[in-house]
Amino acid sequence: MPITVTADGTEFHLHNRQLSYIFGVLKNGQLGQLYYGKPLRPRASFAHLGQIERRSNTVQYFDDDSAFSPALIRHEYPMFGCGDFRYPAFDVRLENGSRITNFTFHGYHITKGKAKLPGLPATHAAGAAEATTLDILLIDTAIQADLHLYYTIFEQAGAIARSARFVNRGSYPLVLASALSASIDLPDADYVMVQTSGSWARERHLHERPLVPGVQSISSTRYASSPQHNPLLVLRRPETTETSGSVYGFSLIYSGNFLAQAEVDDYRVCRVSIGINPFGFSWHLAPGADFQTPEALFVYSDKGLTGMSFSFYDICRHHLMCGKWSQRERPILLNTWEALHFHYDDASVMALAESASRLGIELFVLDDGWFGRRDSDKSSLGDWFTNFKKFPRGITSLAERIRALGLRFGLWIEPEMISQDSDLYRAHPDWMIRTPGRRASMARHQYVLDCSRQVIIDYLYGRIAALIRAAKLAYVKWDMNRYITEAYSATLPSDRQAELGHRYMLGVYQLFDRLTRHFPDILFESCASGGGRFDFGMLHYTPQIWTSDDTDAIERLSIQFGSSLAYPPVAMGAHVSAVPNKQTGRLAPLETRAAVAYFGAFGYELDVTALSPEDELAIKRQILFYKANRRLIQFGDFYRLESPYAATGNIISWMVVSPDQKEALAMRVQVLNHPNPPLARLYFRGLRADFPYKLSNCSDILYGDELMNAGVLLRKPKSTSLGQSLDFFSWMIRLKAAVSD
Ligand code: GLA
Repeated sequence: MPITVTADGTEFHLHNRQLSYIFGVLKNGQLGQLYYGKPLRPRASFAHLGQIERRSNTVQYFDDDSAFSPALIRHEYPMFGCGDFRYPAFDVRLENGSRITNFTFHGYHITKGKAKLPGLPATHAAGAAEATTLDILLIDTAIQADLHLYYTIFEQAGAIARSARFVNRGSYPLVLASALSASIDLPDADYVMVQTSGSWARERHLHERPLVPGVQSISSTRYASSPQHNPLLVLRRPETTETSGSVYGFSLIYSGNFLAQAEVDDYRVCRVSIGINPFGFSWHLAPGADFQTPEALFVYSDKGLTGMSFSFYDICRHHLMCGKWSQRERPILLNTWEALHFHYDDASVMALAESASRLGIELFVLDDGWFGRRDSDKSSLGDWFTNFKKFPRGITSLAERIRALGLRFGLWIEPEMISQDSDLYRAHPDWMIRTPGRRASMARHQYVLDCSRQVIIDYLYGRIAALIRAAKLAYVKWDMNRYITEAYSATLPSDRQAELGHRYMLGVYQLFDRLTRHFPDILFESCASGGGRFDFGMLHYTPQIWTSDDTDAIERLSIQFGSSLAYPPVAMGAHVSAVPNKQTGRLAPLETRAAVAYFGAFGYELDVTALSPEDELAIKRQILFYKANRRLIQFGDFYRLESPYAATGNIISWMVVSPDQKEALAMRVQVLNHPNPPLARLYFRGLRADFPYKLSNCSDILYGDELMNAGVLLRKPKSTSLGQSLDFFSWMIRLKAAVSD
């Protein structure tokens, strides 16, 4: 039983082979956190771990117990206003204006498996044996409000999923000014906080800082999880490395505004809180209504950052992504965007498709520009009908002819948006998000549809479903290219305007849910100007996400490396594009561009009708190579080897290993070529110590222990022709165990 409860039903120990999570009921009826970390052997009670030592100048809960102070207790889902002065997990405004609540323990319920969260993406468990869920009921009897805290522990992954649900059973409305998904008080603050932050085209770069007293946080106020900060907060011990040591990862299964913070208090207790960003949020809870928070993921590993990443990958691949594509090999695609932008017609698209098919590409994706009168980014978003000027025979006919070439066919859409110059806007000018009497800010010449409104979601569902059926789409790229400003919904009452951000996400999730359920064979890839909404919320519906608009292989090293902290490579759309690269002007060799893109959901994004004979041959070989190694790459174990964030950062490598450890593939890139360089050995990981491996381009057979502990010296690249640059050089090493099956 992965959840042990004490005989008196007041202490809960969630445990599996990778972690223990323990909390219990305090003497005032509230919940106290006892332990979270490496597995502990079950025992009668761990109440002693909540021991408090008296401190002066603190507020006492009981007159006769000077040690029991809210400021000293490690809480499980803290409230504010009664002597704990740290940030609370929730903030409820009552009818009389007060914000004081007292939710106390009233029981619990344990169920096998994992229930769905209404309207929200969340983890799931296929069989009852895969997960166990604990539902803790707290009640504030003065206002007749229930608070459920949900905990799901998974059999095989070092992770717990947590969320909260408020139910108003009283006769007065309540207002949730804040309702985070989860909070935990860790007993000390000796951690380095790791986050993945950046901006458009340089998403999810690693940043680290030691914790200091006060609040350190990452958040979004853009109504999308954002490229500025990913909803991932990692705490590692100072001595924790990639391969060893304790680390906690906190993430959110949500794509809207979020807050993740670590607050170090005056006793060096560290409170981690994660959930919907309270800034700009509130929720009106009418009598009888309830509010379910998004789900948070708590991961613990004692095996370094790799151990933490593995747990996130396990959860993502087995308990989060839904539908057939979560387990299916992803097709090699050609996307038209960097090849043609908006400038195409039936003939040029067919020419590209014919070349793609000759190369061995499997899926053809027609990006932006096929609909309405879209010849630039200035018009037509919302008009998801064929642009007959470009395609006089229609998209359906184009799709058929492309399928006849042996390719699958997919389209780009940006459903959440509307251009002012569109038939949709002319018909429904009131469908966009804008504040009455205020200027409506444009971004990329477009506005955002009010997806909190059911009428708009129904319209979008009808239009997209019709499109999918007519063109028999196999794939949809779902883009989202601007953030919400002047947030206001025409249909929400004034005291509910701060619900718009979350209602918007619920609308978008509903649309994804309906489409993915009705069209289970379609591969959806989400995108938000590249990786602006790369989060577990989106990954629930779309098992791959366009990682970044930056297709430069060298920039992608940092982006994919950073993204891999929480997200498995199979989730990352990665394409080979032309040089000079459109974002950086860099001239990375074709082999290196492919070497980096291989470690993701692979594709091409360049004009394949204009290839030199050598490049054409090379691309054909790359495609064959990827097909032969696809299962290994997409479903193998991913190991980061040499980091772009290391002090030198000039040599970067990573590898994948098959689950049976008989096959592996490593990639290494040298950014700049230096004269007389250091002798940089490559130390492999994840191999079987006692397996003899044959390495590509090497006649020797080497054992796993030697490859991992003594490493190999990769031959320094030699210039083959005068003037050829060896900057951005790459190595690919294929390892195959010389053992019988
Ligand atoms: C965004 C996407 C690109 C492309 C363009 C089309 O920027 O990230 O991949 O689809 O939109 O307008």
